[in-house]
Amino acid sequence: MNFPSAFPVLRTERLVLREVADHDVPAVFEMESDPVAMRYWSKPPMRDISEAVASVERAKTFFPTQAGLRWCLATPADDWTIGHASLFAFSEQSGRADIGYGLARRHWGQGYMHEALVAIVDYAFGPLGLRRLEADADPRNAPSCRALERLGFVREGTLRERWQVGDEISDTAFYGLLAREWRERRRSS
Ligand SMILES: CC(C)(COP(=O)(O)OP(=O)(O)OC[C@H]1O[C@@H](n2cnc3c(N)ncnc32)[C@H](O)[C@@H]1OP(=O)(O)O)[C@@H](O)C(=O)NCCC(=O)NCCS
Repeated sequence: MNFPSAFPVLRTERLVLREVADHDVPAVFEMESDPVAMRYWSKPPMRDISEAVASVERAKTFFPTQAGLRWCLATPADDWTIGHASLFAFSEQSGRADIGYGLARRHWGQGYMHEALVAIVDYAFGPLGLRRLEADADPRNAPSCRALERLGFVREGTLRERWQVGDEISDTAFYGLLAREWRERRRSS
């Protein structure tokens, strides 16, 4: 794995994928305080803007500590963050990482996440040198499962009662994608 020395800004047709910044606080709060968007997230919805401030502060440490790569999905005209996507839980030895993502609700259904994830997966299996990506989705989270399957992720199994968020216990649909599968897919697309 080749963790980058400078944050890897990625560009797609409609988005700039960049590092988190202080001015992302309102956008993070928009998404992460929405109970619908957070229905299957690993933590309950935010209730106060101070939680978004803390979340942005935390996200700013991911790259310098090599804990993860968190890309804010920004629209180039106004630099507004419509969502974010991350690689984290790197295993250097096994060349793998987890992928996670979310969009504010008003940006759903327009293909933005697919566009961003294609760029991130290209980066993960290209310059970053990973061999396998993993994703953990609630089996009831159909849009998330579709987003993974659209990229070629294979549903490898169900991990029962893996999460407890508040009082709710939920299963995980566990997905994996291999670099060689991605290359084959890109070659034939
Ligand atoms: C998971 C999540 C990002 C998926 O959002 P999404 O809008 O469905 O995904 P995309 O941005 O890739 O858009 C794809 C959808 O847009 C449609 N679409 C419209 N215009 C499009 C375009 N120009 N290009 C591609 N797709 C387009 C696609 O048909 C697809 O809809 P479908 O799944 O009903 O067929 C979103 O539901 C979310 O943020 N949820 C809350 C957070 C969350 O649960 N994260 C996952 C935790 S595991």
